[in-house]
Amino acid sequence: MVRINTCVFISGKGTNLNKLILNSNTYNFPIKIRLVVSNNKNAEGLRLAKKFSIPYIIYSSNQTLSENKTLIELKKYNINLILLAGYMKILTKKFIRSFRKPILNIHPSLLPKYKGLNTFEKVLKKKEKKTGCTVHFVTEKLDDGKIILKKFFYIDKEDNILTLKKKTQALEYIAFSEAIFRLIR
Ligand code: GAR
Repeated sequence: MVRINTCVFISGKGTNLNKLILNSNTYNFPIKIRLVVSNNKNAEGLRLAKKFSIPYIIYSSNQTLSENKTLIELKKYNINLILLAGYMKILTKKFIRSFRKPILNIHPSLLPKYKGLNTFEKVLKKKEKKTGCTVHFVTEKLDDGKIILKKFFYIDKEDNILTLKKKTQALEYIAFSEAIFRLIR
């Protein structure tokens, strides 16, 4: 099976990255993670890149310069897919236009509801009955591209920010990989 060369962008813990790496090491998963990019030099997820010997790039404070360097590396590794797995910086229009291949993002809400940050706070404040996660194509507008899939759960009376995050992320680990299968099929 030919696997799609993939680059994963992270900013923090990298639990989604971990799941993607584990899945990509199984025999029928259609991607191979060739590169990791982090805009945060202290991102815990970078440990995973090191552990699994995946080359990685860490951004400096100069986003344009960092993105330009990344575009060169993306070419070098023949990357055909980018996954934003907890990447907390907005990609520049120039970067998105230059890459010209699919970029997928996972977002911790049922889009189009609650774009941007602090989704769990917003969900609780609005007394939503359900929430979940969305995998969508990245466009130049924040959290706005075509939706590939959503997964949801019903909110309990006892739920708080932490439990919502835990439940949402448990769904994310399934949703991201399922979305990749759908994209590639
Ligand atoms: C994930 O829950 C993801 O949905 C969210 O960041 C978390 C990263 O966790 N992304 C966003 O909020 C993007 N707007 P992880 O680093 O453990 O995968």
